[in-house]
Amino acid sequence: MASPWRPIRVWSPLLGLGFVVALIAFALQLSSRRHLAQRLWTFEELALYNGTDERLPILLGILGSVFDVTKGKTHYGPGGGYHHFAGRDASRAFVSGNFTGDGLTDSLNGLSTMEVKSVVDWRKFYMERYIFTGHLVGRYYDSQGKPTKYLKGVESKAKRGAQLLEKQKIEEDKIPSCNSKWSQQEGGKVWCDSGYPRLVKRPGDIALTGKISQRCACFKEEELGRPGLEVYKNCDYLSQSCSV
Ligand code: HEM
Ligand SMILES: *[C@@H]1O[C@H](CO)[C@@H](O)[C@H](O)[C@H]1NC(C)=O
Ligand SMILES: *[C@@H]1O[C@H](CO)[C@@H](O)[C@H](O)[C@H]1NC(C)=O
Repeated sequence: MASPWRPIRVWSPLLGLGFVVALIAFALQLSSRRHLAQRLWTFEELALYNGTDERLPILLGILGSVFDVTKGKTHYGPGGGYHHFAGRDASRAFVSGNFTGDGLTDSLNGLSTMEVKSVVDWRKFYMERYIFTGHLVGRYYDSQGKPTKYLKGVESKAKRGAQLLEKQKIEEDKIPSCNSKWSQQEGGKVWCDSGYPRLVKRPGDIALTGKISQRCACFKEEELGRPGLEVYKNCDYLSQSCSV
């Protein structure tokens, strides 16, 4: 019987080599890429890193976290479509899309649960794609670098949003959504492979977005008497396909 440990012994010289290679790569990276050290930033300091000075990295703040986005210069540098995000924390603009004047604020006051979740998702995007460079002192971090009540409120609202979304998904999976397509010639069309298309309200949306939206779902014939099901305009009660 072969010992189960044998393969490891065979591979261990290779593992050792891999380790040395990784160590050298790491050391090279340390010396070649001059990262900004993680630190606390003030508004005024952050504003200098807006991309206009070619010699400086480009920094972007979101929810008080600062990222080096220099590798995204085409987006964030002068002339880039997202240049307004550089050198500041314009958290709100990640959902408002308003890159002008007072739209460029870090305040999320009055945004819906879904919108707040979306900003938190953007922060995750930057965490994964860019280099974290510390925190901005202000609305989200205090002068000690500690998360503020405001940030904790934002994060718990986003978390609640994620839970509500998950719950909604589980609910909606019980009744399949309609197929849909749109074409220039035929316009919009919804259809069910099995069952009948009906418009239904998504009650969960009130908590998430403050509004009620609808979706098209496929109901079996015996379910068609349920309250709240809306037949598509100009579509037969038992038609499996409707123009919209
Ligand atoms: C609320 C509105 C919007 C916000 C906040 C926003 C934000 C952003 C940001 C921050 C990036 C850069 C991501 C990175 O660092 O790689 C980006 C990329 C991009 N955005 Fe938007 N965007 C918005 C709306 C739109 C719209 C309406 C379109 C198209 C009609 C669009 C098309 C794109 C494309 C194509 C890229 C990728 C560009 C590339 O990688 O070369 N965005 N967006
Ligand atoms: C952008 O950064 C430059 C220096 O890098 C600075 O002189 C300028 O005032 C900054 N612009 C804004 C709007 O803060
Ligand atoms: C952006 O926000 C500013 C200030 O709140 C407002 O005056 C302006 O109308 C907004 N622009 C758009 C396109 O929503």
